[in-house]
Amino acid sequence: MNTVSFTRMADGAAEDWALLATYEEDYMAALPDRILAALEKLNDSFGGYQVTRYTHSLQAATRALRDGRDDEYVVATLIHDIGDDLAPLTHGAMVAAILRPFVREEICWMIDKHPVFQTYYYGAHTGDDPNARDRFREHPHYALTAEFCELYDQSSFDPDYDTLPIEEFEPAVRRVFSEPRYSQGPG
Ligand SMILES: [Fe+2]
Ligand SMILES: [Fe+2]
Repeated sequence: MNTVSFTRMADGAAEDWALLATYEEDYMAALPDRILAALEKLNDSFGGYQVTRYTHSLQAATRALRDGRDDEYVVATLIHDIGDDLAPLTHGAMVAAILRPFVREEICWMIDKHPVFQTYYYGAHTGDDPNARDRFREHPHYALTAEFCELYDQSSFDPDYDTLPIEEFEPAVRRVFSEPRYSQGPG
């Protein structure tokens, strides 16, 4: 592998950046594989539920797919919890950051805020505020996010549900992560 001439970015030449661009292109092309690998790691999340976090994710995406949701929605649903291993207290924001260049803004907001909306279903038993979502009551994406939690997230812990395998979702993951349609540039 060729390498750049510089040791400080400030000293880089156009050829250096052209070289790096070719390597970066290959690396970006493998993003869907890294997303799928991160999803698979949810098999190792903590126990106690009747399904793994991985099955929960597939089940939520299966329900969304069967409801006729589009690629961006289904893929966001599929990966909505992949931040759990590295960002257990802020996983919504982490996954939203991953999605932002690839899915429309309302879906990013939905994924970002889903942990706050999700307390509606368990907060009464854990000391969390079940009405924490109320502070977003006037937000244009409130209804979308409440619906996501009701239909797909809180409902997808069922070992008897006919959950589709990952193979059913791989093509959509590759379609969505093949092009940063909503990219604002480096950030
Ligand atoms: Fe979550
Ligand atoms: Fe979830």
